[in-house]
Amino acid sequence: MTLASWLKVEAEAARIRATELRALAARSDMAPFVWSAPHLEVDVAKQPIDAGAMAALQAFAAERGLESKIKSLFAAGIVNASENRPALHWALRGGGKGIPAIDTMNREAEKAAAFADRTRKGGLGFPVETILHIGIGGSDLGPRLMWDALRDYASEGPDIRFVANVDPEDFAEATAGLDASTTLVLVVSKSFKTPETASNAQLGREWLVKHLGEEQANKHLAAVSSAPDKAKTWGAAEDRIFPMDEAVGGRYSVWSSVGLSLQIALGADRWSRLLAGAAEMDSHFRDTPLASNTPARLAMMDVFLHTALGIPNRTVLAYAHRLRKLPDFLQQLEMESNGKSTADDKAGLVGPTAPMVWGSVGTLGQHSFHQLLHQGMRQSAIEFVVSREAGAGDWPRGRALIANALAQAEGLLAGRSAAEAEKQLAAQGKMGPAAIEQARHMGMPGNRGSTTVLLDDTTPESIGALIAMYEHRTFAGGILWGINPFDQWGVERGKVLAEELDNALAGGDPGKRDPSTLRLVSRTRR
Ligand code: F6P
Repeated sequence: MTLASWLKVEAEAARIRATELRALAARSDMAPFVWSAPHLEVDVAKQPIDAGAMAALQAFAAERGLESKIKSLFAAGIVNASENRPALHWALRGGGKGIPAIDTMNREAEKAAAFADRTRKGGLGFPVETILHIGIGGSDLGPRLMWDALRDYASEGPDIRFVANVDPEDFAEATAGLDASTTLVLVVSKSFKTPETASNAQLGREWLVKHLGEEQANKHLAAVSSAPDKAKTWGAAEDRIFPMDEAVGGRYSVWSSVGLSLQIALGADRWSRLLAGAAEMDSHFRDTPLASNTPARLAMMDVFLHTALGIPNRTVLAYAHRLRKLPDFLQQLEMESNGKSTADDKAGLVGPTAPMVWGSVGTLGQHSFHQLLHQGMRQSAIEFVVSREAGAGDWPRGRALIANALAQAEGLLAGRSAAEAEKQLAAQGKMGPAAIEQARHMGMPGNRGSTTVLLDDTTPESIGALIAMYEHRTFAGGILWGINPFDQWGVERGKVLAEELDNALAGGDPGKRDPSTLRLVSRTRR
């Protein structure tokens, strides 16, 4: 079934496709294309969008029932139908008064906060100088991002080192030069059955026993999981197991006990400020009509760019060293949430769903892949994330960072004709056939759009608001695409196959498989 409102969106896309972006971006009125939200603003004026397209998208969002889905999210409704669960990540930031799970969630938060405080005060019986955070996916990416984003480089407080890969080199690197006597090993696994994390948890325990002996080792262990019984079986003491709610998705879980290493290393003040910033964005998303709801409008634009206009991917360029892990984090958040093809909504899908999300930190990307962005033949929806307070007080360098981000966005839009290039060469005294040929290679098509997310600063509040914005944008995108943004059935198959192939590589019968896999098993088995 095709939604009537979607036909209008497609008609708008056809119109926009026939309009030159440079002309479209010459906005007479910028206001409708600068979207504000707590701690940030979003400039979409360089994107192939206009009032007509936005109106069609708003009507589409209305027909998809986005507003009532937002209400259902914040009412702890069953927004994750295939797992018959609500999605409660927002309740971790204080908005969950009155929902059934809130008392348990508050107790879980209090237990983690008390442990963090006790740890910081030496209450474990040894000084904790490093937390070895063992986890993967949502049990790793959020904490890594937030640690980079919020750590005080001058702090005397604990450091965090992360281990995620089953490749033992990851563990080796993370523990190189590490003193076990001042290290807390924190195993973070919502399911407590992820093979990579189980493997690293075993390495962690063995490492502690080797350096400290069995009895001491247990004092240096703790676990975070929504399966506390499994953590107990593994050997964590009851008072060292920090539960998290089943209804908090892994990729939405950094605000839960999954963020315990952050609470210990950052301290209660920065942690509470992080949650406060996210809570402000929650209020914006929950209470603001769709016409001026920034996460919702970003989702509408995502659906327009990636489904109606067919742009296959999004490039996230984080122009802040502290946000260098943002692309990796968004890859899981958005691609594990919306990389799906099964309709959840009875009205069905309207076209291809989530884009591939990739990116890097600015300005590094300018010296690696920006060439393709400027002169290549593939489209991408490009997103700059910039802080007005760039440079951490060193304004000339912060200014350079911002200038580069603005320059890249301008260059993508404006391009440079071969004629303009010829003029530039002529001004350098280069003329004639050689100069004309060189100018031909210097031409840049331009008309390449981008979004600029402009943060007030990189305080904990702003970082919290930014990540909550992406969470809500992802949820709203799932609703508009007609899918369930909270399950991840696509990741289970690989785990089953890996177990079978592990057995084959160990000498077992590889069974019936494609010829390539069978040959590769024979080439690698021992
Ligand atoms: O396999 C994907 C996944 O389940 C993610 O959704 C999750 O964040 C990650 O693995 C780790 O899962 P766990 O926290 O249960 O170890």
